[in-house]
Amino acid sequence: MRGAMRATVLGSGAGGAFPQWNCGCPNCTAVREGREGYLARTQDSVAVTEDGDRFVLVNASPGVLVQIQRTRALWPRSARHSPIAAVVLTNGDMDHVLGLFSLRESWPFELWATESVWSGLEQSLFIRTLRRFDGHVTKKVLPLDEEVSIAGIPTRARAAPGKAPVHLVGHADHRPDDNVMLSLGGKILYAAACASADVDVSGHPVVLFDGTFYREDELVRLGLSKAVAKDMAHVPISGETGSLAKLAGVSARKIYTHINNTNPVLAPTPEERRAVESAGGEISYDGMEIPA
Ligand code: MLT
Ligand code: MN
Ligand code: ZN
Repeated sequence: MRGAMRATVLGSGAGGAFPQWNCGCPNCTAVREGREGYLARTQDSVAVTEDGDRFVLVNASPGVLVQIQRTRALWPRSARHSPIAAVVLTNGDMDHVLGLFSLRESWPFELWATESVWSGLEQSLFIRTLRRFDGHVTKKVLPLDEEVSIAGIPTRARAAPGKAPVHLVGHADHRPDDNVMLSLGGKILYAAACASADVDVSGHPVVLFDGTFYREDELVRLGLSKAVAKDMAHVPISGETGSLAKLAGVSARKIYTHINNTNPVLAPTPEERRAVESAGGEISYDGMEIPA
């Protein structure tokens, strides 16, 4: 029976987490020193449930063990058990996949990913660790534009503007199913990596959207990289074509996630954070509960 859906943001950071191990940017320095108002963040993942018994992990973050430990609803309920019934991957990026290998101890779950993402995963011998016996991790191919039931949650994947994971760029042609956004239970639209904000996110009361960068040239300004947001297939929050402007007309809770450690919205009171909030946007944090 379908109940009330809810999501928990397990990890609200981007691939570098917050602080990033090798980063001395102002934000990372502040959170490392424990300055007031700065919250540490693990890498991007959300847990979703409709019945409170079975959970879907959307992406398997390198922080998954800590995330489970601090989320009581994800604790075992008997001697060998996990409420995690399925993992669904939105792309093959390391920050979404590495946590799978921390979930290798003999608990059966479904692993949903598009054909492209599966093909990347199966090029790694590590995947054998998740298939040690019949019924260990069950391969499920996530179709585009077709509803499937994942742990009782009607789920639909749509191609999202993006790219192949770093380890496959130059080794495989880019395919539309390299990166998807998910409609979960018709309630939550999750698009943690999106290269454009010209996407249809309508029809959902909650939109979790790519908040990696505030500015297109954020890393360049900080002297950390020559790469701009577009090179990494993440549309920034600000600017004429940014997500804040493009999603302004969408009547939904708009919650930014997958937030890079350099993003000024992570500081407690800067103008950028106020700009997001006054436009009706929210900044997610680890442990954020979202009734939907
Ligand atoms: C991204 O979101 O662009 C990727 O997670 C980057 C990475 O693979 O480190
Ligand atoms: Mn990422
Ligand atoms: Zn940093």
